Amino acid sequence: MCFKGSAERPAAPEPVAGPPSRRSFGRLLLAGSGLAALSACAPGEARPTPFGPSSPTAPFAPSATTAGTPAAASGTAGVTHSSTEPLPGSPAAAVPATAPPEPSAAAPVPRHSLTDPASPWVVVNKHRPLSPAAYVPAGLVQPRVRLATSGEAALLNSTAAGAAEKMFAAAAAAGVVITLASGYRSFNTQIATYNRWVNAEGQAAADTASARPGFSEHQTGWSFDIGDGSGRDSFTPAFANQPAAVWVKANAHLFGFVVRYPWMFHEITGYYYEPWHLRYVGVETSGDMHTRGIATLEEYFGLEAAPGYR
Ligand code: DAL
Ligand code: ZN
Repeated sequence: MCFKGSAERPAAPEPVAGPPSRRSFGRLLLAGSGLAALSACAPGEARPTPFGPSSPTAPFAPSATTAGTPAAASGTAGVTHSSTEPLPGSPAAAVPATAPPEPSAAAPVPRHSLTDPASPWVVVNKHRPLSPAAYVPAGLVQPRVRLATSGEAALLNSTAAGAAEKMFAAAAAAGVVITLASGYRSFNTQIATYNRWVNAEGQAAADTASARPGFSEHQTGWSFDIGDGSGRDSFTPAFANQPAAVWVKANAHLFGFVVRYPWMFHEITGYYYEPWHLRYVGVETSGDMHTRGIATLEEYFGLEAAPGYR
């Protein structure tokens, strides 16, 4: 079940000819568009309605207090959105004092397929549908983690499940509760999820938050959404402030995961910030992305940006 996180919303990402610059976001802010990101994507046992009301007090981005913690600061580097960044909506956010460093451009030597949905490197986005569209992963399993869902949504492929178990255990040892809120999603479930968005918000808005059937990473078994057991700010941009999201931003790469839809990269990924959506790519890859400060799979693998469907 999808859940819209903010009463205020930005314009849908528009297709761009080339890779977007972060300065364009600065201009967006100056234009007063704000950064009320849509949240998105879980089918929803945890929520009574597909689009619950947003919290009127919920911030749109990590608070200075939370984002300034050492854990948050160590989460990402380079073009990713670390604690050193100005907060959206602040004057400093609109006019960065210095240009952020560009990520290292060299794509890795191919070791896995970028198109096979069984590959940990598969890149699924609005330009890269799953093939076959109704793909079903082999060997889905239920990880031994704290669950906030059931049925198919509690499943992952066995590799992602094993990594998730290690990551959830490490978080628990650090005193951070993480729950598995939504894992595998079949093609048919994605039809229902996406249609709820379209019916409630219209297709343009739906496309900024929910993948069309056959275009969702959730269908691969490599991805899942997290909660924190409290339900606070679940599937809203403000979830980025919660300890679970802060912890995974800082540590997920140690277990082979990346935050797949990072803040302000929607012109590349096609989706607004989803601090709850993790994607397994393997420890070597997630570590390399972290070290090189590369935020998206599209940039890491040298693929074109996919802001919209073709
Ligand atoms: N919310 C993500 C993009 C999905 O629907 O897969
Ligand atoms: Zn997700």
